[in-house]
Amino acid sequence: MEENINNEATTELTEEDAMRIILNSLVHYRAWARDNLLTPKATKYDMLTDEEKKLFHWFPNYLKKLEHSIDINSRYFEMVAESMGPFWGVGNPDTEYNKSNTDFPNLINLMNQFVREWSSDGMVERDISFGRILKYAEKYFPNIEFRPDIEVLVPGSGLGRLVVEFSKLGFKTQGTEISYFMLFNSHFLLNRAFVSNNFVLCPFIHKSSNNLKSNFQCRQIYFPDFNAEEIYQLEKDYPSIKSDDLMSMIAGDFDDLYGPPGVAKKGQTTMDDPNAMAFREGNVGRFKIIATSFFIDTATNIIDYIKAIKHSLSDDGYWINFGPLLWHHEHSEKFYDTDWKRPTGEIVKVRMPAQGLEISMEDLIDLIEEMGFQFIEHESGIKSSYGSDSRSMSEWNYKCEFWICKKKHQNN
Ligand SMILES: C[S@@+](CC[C@H](N)C(=O)[O-])C[C@H]1O[C@@H](n2cnc3c(N)ncnc32)[C@H](O)[C@@H]1O
Repeated sequence: MEENINNEATTELTEEDAMRIILNSLVHYRAWARDNLLTPKATKYDMLTDEEKKLFHWFPNYLKKLEHSIDINSRYFEMVAESMGPFWGVGNPDTEYNKSNTDFPNLINLMNQFVREWSSDGMVERDISFGRILKYAEKYFPNIEFRPDIEVLVPGSGLGRLVVEFSKLGFKTQGTEISYFMLFNSHFLLNRAFVSNNFVLCPFIHKSSNNLKSNFQCRQIYFPDFNAEEIYQLEKDYPSIKSDDLMSMIAGDFDDLYGPPGVAKKGQTTMDDPNAMAFREGNVGRFKIIATSFFIDTATNIIDYIKAIKHSLSDDGYWINFGPLLWHHEHSEKFYDTDWKRPTGEIVKVRMPAQGLEISMEDLIDLIEEMGFQFIEHESGIKSSYGSDSRSMSEWNYKCEFWICKKKHQNN
């Protein structure tokens, strides 16, 4: 390998910068959406001749609906920013957030994630992935009263629905998530939704293609499609179970926080403070179930993810996986700073490309076996959409893999 030795200071974002980008986007969504969605449409309409305008007589009303939908979205996002900015210690959204450092494409993706995880529109999709995972967890651990002793980890937990569903079944469940978009929004949702369908978004307005009707583009999605009280139902049925003790969420990088020593350090995501180090040590062999849904393909180095799963899974534990192989970093131009051990043993700082180890499913399965796992369940080609719009004229399905692995015993 041609080493890309980096002696310069890291250019990666600090935690606070990463949070600010999210808060900037939430606060400035309205202006951005008006400029990018409304203005081009309004300009194009204004340039039509009077005759043409007559043919498009419904268009002004459509623009009003889009404007109203942008207002609905921005009201929700502003609520999240107002509450989460000060809570996470990044200041006051009214005065401190600027327009220049934003990430609107991911804000739009976030709305699709709300549809998938927390709306009744996502129920069918969730049942295929989350439903399958939960069914096997219930099968392997049928005694509800013992489940609070069964620790479950959900890496890349997104907006937290799978974590909540595991907890509702009585499992002691921890989600871990790297994105502040997800963390702020799941935190807000889980603490501020007092009734089912408490909130509303118009998640589809930014897609003007493949709409059967313009109304479909502007339709509203209510969420969450569950009542927070449901979390406490189990406690009513089994008073020995304390629902509040069952669920936790950790902000950070999965392989960094749950992997063995020696997993490559990744710039700012590695926390060397004593609490993070103690947390890491406590995770060795801790979890009876590690449930990965649409997660493993987020790896920059899949070997590190498998090492982390093996390291934090108990010897008799189950790794349950559902998802495709949409390698998230396949086209990434990003690099991360890491420590790299030369064959001589010397450790040097290098710039590692995020992409590079995107392997096929066949090679991945071989790798998993090679790294000490045994497949006890395996299904291929399970069709599933992801964050889809059920009324769109286009439909995208992955052919997903589902597996359950156990660690091989030494004498196997
Ligand atoms: C495709 S989403 C899947 C979300 C959820 N599991 C589901 O099935 O809907 C992948 C999630 O993993 C998170 N993620 C990516 N890399 C991560 C890492 N290294 N550690 C923790 N979370 C990560 C992303 O932020 C994203 O929320």
